[in-house]
Amino acid sequence: ANVPLIDPFARPITYLRVSVTDRCDFRCVYCMTEHMQFLPKAELLTLEELDRLCSAFIGLGVRKLRITGGEPLVRRGIMGFFRAMSRHLGQGLDELTVTTNGSQLGRFAAELADCGVRRVNVSLDTLDEAKFARITRWGRLPQVLDGIRAASAAGLRVKINTVALKGVNDDELFDLVRWCGDEGHDLTFIEVMPMGDLGNEDRLDQYWPLSDLRGQLARGFTLTDLAERTGGPARYVRLEQTGQKVGFITPLTHNFCESCNRVRVTCTGDLFMCLGQEDRADLRGPLRDSADDAPLNRAIRAAIAHKPKGHDFDYSRQTVAGQMSRHMSHTGG
Ligand code: GTP
Ligand code: 5AD
Ligand code: SF4
Repeated sequence: ANVPLIDPFARPITYLRVSVTDRCDFRCVYCMTEHMQFLPKAELLTLEELDRLCSAFIGLGVRKLRITGGEPLVRRGIMGFFRAMSRHLGQGLDELTVTTNGSQLGRFAAELADCGVRRVNVSLDTLDEAKFARITRWGRLPQVLDGIRAASAAGLRVKINTVALKGVNDDELFDLVRWCGDEGHDLTFIEVMPMGDLGNEDRLDQYWPLSDLRGQLARGFTLTDLAERTGGPARYVRLEQTGQKVGFITPLTHNFCESCNRVRVTCTGDLFMCLGQEDRADLRGPLRDSADDAPLNRAIRAAIAHKPKGHDFDYSRQTVAGQMSRHMSHTGG
């Protein structure tokens, strides 16, 4: 029973991303359509079921747990869930963390810190208020900046996630870097991935390869590659002039699947083995059919034994290949 989770490509699975809701208080243009259809609440796993599920994964060797959504902090009662998960810290779990749009951090940052969260990843694509409103459709920049300040004040490390969007935030590269440096936040850029049909939004038009972004950055700063990793997909550099860390998540220009250590669970209990593949396994059945964890553990092991090698995202032929039918908010990245 104590054999760790190893996939067919000899990759140990130690990182679980759990989406606790598909809902969000924003409607980012690269993530959702304006009129998203959300799941009926009755479809969701209860927080007790999510607890059992995460605890089973931790029992199977998961050491890093990231709560995602949608926007995880809009799920009712979510702080009780963080509190419950915190019992695993130091008891198998090394890190409990969250990826958020920041809108609720003003309310919850202190409590997150109290639950043993040390770092939060906050999505922020622009520092321009009008542009922020255009990208997120429903979001307000000042609320997010207040949330980020609250996180820092609560002692949480903040990493900013910025989706690199040509024609949208490419003119802000140095502003974003300077702001993160001044505020003491790490910053990670992400290549836009073809998740979900967004109607009019054209991925290829928006796509800003990070090889190009990095080249621009290197004209303003001396970049030193860092070997250290956070367990996530980003590769980091240090900017020698300021000492700050900048990360690159490059599914398109520099595939990182060979070092994949993670799987994700949706808010309905579907286990997705890869962000960029359709392979999934139902865990809600084994969770609900039996109070005994043995069938659940078996279902998890059986699924990991079929984890695919990697995604097939590809824009290199000037068309979008490997597009997923589900939106990013479904699996939380
Ligand atoms: P750290 O713990 O800070 O390293 O975080 P992380 O990068 O693991 O998590 P985060 O939620 O901040 O994810 C940042 C971006 O990476 C999101 O856009 C995710 O969709 C993307 N991402 C995370 N895991 C994967 C993956 O396995 N494959 C791909 N293609 N993208 C991923
Ligand atoms: N491609 C890349 N990143 C995306 N995100 C949402 N949709 C996409 C996409 N299609 C980002 C969010 C957040 C993280 C979890 O995923 O901005 O930072
Ligand atoms: Fe919400 Fe994040 Fe998707 Fe934006 S990217 S709509 S904040 S889930």
